[in-house]
Amino acid sequence: MNQQTPAAVPFVVPCADRVAKLPPYVFATLFRMRDEALAAGREVFDLSVGNPDLRPAPAVIAAMNTAMDDDSWNCHRYGTFNGLPRFREAIARWYYERFVVTLDPNTQVLPLIGSKEGLANLMRAYLNPGDGIIIPSPCYPAYFGAAHLCEAEVFELRLCEEDGWVPRLEDIPAEVAARSRMLILNYPNNPTGGVADLAFFAKAVEWCRRHQVMLVSDAAYTELGFDPDNQPPSVLQVPGAMDVAVEFQSLSKSHNLAGWRVGFVVGGQEPIGYLGKVKSHVDFSLFGGIQMAAVAALRHGGQSVKDNRAMYLRRRGQMVAGLRKLGWQVPSPPATLYIWARIPQAWQGDDFRFVQDLFAATGVLVSPGSGFGVHGKGYARMSLVAPTATIERICELLEGTGFDWS
Ligand SMILES: Cc1ncc(COP(=O)(O)O)c(C=O)c1O
Repeated sequence: MNQQTPAAVPFVVPCADRVAKLPPYVFATLFRMRDEALAAGREVFDLSVGNPDLRPAPAVIAAMNTAMDDDSWNCHRYGTFNGLPRFREAIARWYYERFVVTLDPNTQVLPLIGSKEGLANLMRAYLNPGDGIIIPSPCYPAYFGAAHLCEAEVFELRLCEEDGWVPRLEDIPAEVAARSRMLILNYPNNPTGGVADLAFFAKAVEWCRRHQVMLVSDAAYTELGFDPDNQPPSVLQVPGAMDVAVEFQSLSKSHNLAGWRVGFVVGGQEPIGYLGKVKSHVDFSLFGGIQMAAVAALRHGGQSVKDNRAMYLRRRGQMVAGLRKLGWQVPSPPATLYIWARIPQAWQGDDFRFVQDLFAATGVLVSPGSGFGVHGKGYARMSLVAPTATIERICELLEGTGFDWS
């Protein structure tokens, strides 16, 4: 009678080694700090994530509502794997109007459940364990986890302030180039706000062609460049780039649709086909109502994108002025909704301690630079996702700490 009861028998199924070795996502750690503080009743100002605080344009919400009740088709059923033809056509049309790049909506365009999903699945489609991938550093942190899940070898390509945050491709060692299948570029850049011009993209296309490396352009912020006479380009504007590059776009920031999960990828028929093949095994494309809302955003959302840009420009001006007044000499980025700054000297490069101390003293949550790659160490990122009145209050709180910001 010494049989153990079922509940007393330990039941252990270990997770896969690649998941066990996966470090926690930097924003998950920050969200835990934030949620504990909120649960304790503290006031929190969350500038950690580029999570737009404004609503989508009314026409976009109306298009979603119309789709939900449209009896001519039933958007509540499973859709097609490669998205609605109307959405793919709207994407091709927008690419032509915005960049004068011609795309076949049937073979060179694929809707995504946010560009984060598409980037990870493209890596799955192309990276074998041990293959190389070249990732800019600092960068959008999701690249690291997605590459890790493919068991790929990551090379962090340093971005420097003195180069305007554009990498020196000649810094890539020959053996890294030889083992790599992908190079990611992200302009305008998260987290630095740096921008790249077509001349740099032409060099990158040439480098990738020479080394037989796919150029993955993450263009999530092309609509958030602040110079009206010099809007950020698409890598596909470079002649011949379609053979070498794919480009990801997101509606999350430009159209305040982050929670809806909608983006897309464009490029050559082959990579779009392989990505579509992977996706057909793991998802069922986007909800039809969201796709119709995205069609409305691309066709009629030009003014709301301009309004967004103007709003981020105002917030940037106010935040930069407020921080400089404290003695923190932060740069004023030419694009995106981020401010990327060296942390004050008193923290001696320990950016996570800076984030913790700032949060403890003020409730203002920013992101530690080391979460964006080894070359992000010693920096912090602030997202401009609070209205101007809140930014004013944040600057007052920062001033009240008595910290030495120099
Ligand atoms: C550079 C970059 N790429 C992609 C994404 C993901 O965007 P999405 O919401 O389309 O998944 C983000 C989000 O912050 C980003 O900063």
